[in-house]
Amino acid sequence: MATIVSVHSFRGGTGKSNTAANLSAVVAARGMRVGVIDADIQSPGIHVLFGLAGETGHASLNDFLWHDRPIQDVVMDVTDRVGGLNGGRLYFIPSSMEPGEITRVLREGYDAHRLTGGLRELVDHLSLDVLFIDTHPGLNEETLLSLVISDILLIVMRPDRQDFEGTGITARVAKELDVPQISIIVNKTPTDFDRESVAERVRATYDCDVAAVLPHSDDLMRLGSEGVFSLLNPDHELSALYRSLARRVVPDRAQ
Ligand SMILES: Nc1ncnc2c1ncn2[C@@H]1O[C@H](COP(=O)(O)OP(=O)(O)O)[C@@H](O)[C@H]1O
Ligand SMILES: [Mg+2]
Repeated sequence: MATIVSVHSFRGGTGKSNTAANLSAVVAARGMRVGVIDADIQSPGIHVLFGLAGETGHASLNDFLWHDRPIQDVVMDVTDRVGGLNGGRLYFIPSSMEPGEITRVLREGYDAHRLTGGLRELVDHLSLDVLFIDTHPGLNEETLLSLVISDILLIVMRPDRQDFEGTGITARVAKELDVPQISIIVNKTPTDFDRESVAERVRATYDCDVAAVLPHSDDLMRLGSEGVFSLLNPDHELSALYRSLARRVVPDRAQ
């Protein structure tokens, strides 16, 4: 049975795509079969981390959702492109960067049941151990449906008042939807904060598991999404934190 993990946040720019890319890569590097889907159709981004910026001509999630292409046709094997995965496999479904396709989702929305059905089919077709869903921020109907099929929801937030309220709302909605495991990731924490007390405060505020408190990293900013940080800098403190977060989210039993 594959584990489906949604990476979500109430507000944008919290670090969802970097978190999803790094977690998927370090889990794959443990020898697993991992899928990642860019479900942020309005503002796709994770393809850049997999080295696909500016590349056109690939089939995309949009072709599956609106143009009747089978899900198997729109998935890319990015294992070799990403590199360093030690025999694991990494599969990616990109979202289209065509302006017309991006605005279509705003006009028409999409059939979320088609998406969830397609994801289940993909998990079987590729015999995935884990599927990560990189979502669009905020609470909209499509995102809620992706939560319904998730075994784990990771809510990414910054230690910022603007993120606090929305994170609480997201956690409450996910609990109502019976998502089996909900965990918060605090990201971009100033390096001079005591991360243990940040974790304690967030845990107490939301009565919710805190899976990681990740520091703000100038090195990650410097990379500017031009790659998967933890594969490029395996000895960095942040990479070790991504690896231990990945072990919490996907324990070795899934192998
Ligand atoms: N821990 C971190 N430290 C510093 N910068 C980060 C960190 N996590 C993410 N970023 C930066 O924040 C920006 C938004 O990250 P991204 O993963 O695209 O967020 P989202 O998908 O939530 O919009 C990017 O420039 C990324 O490099
Ligand atoms: Mg993103």
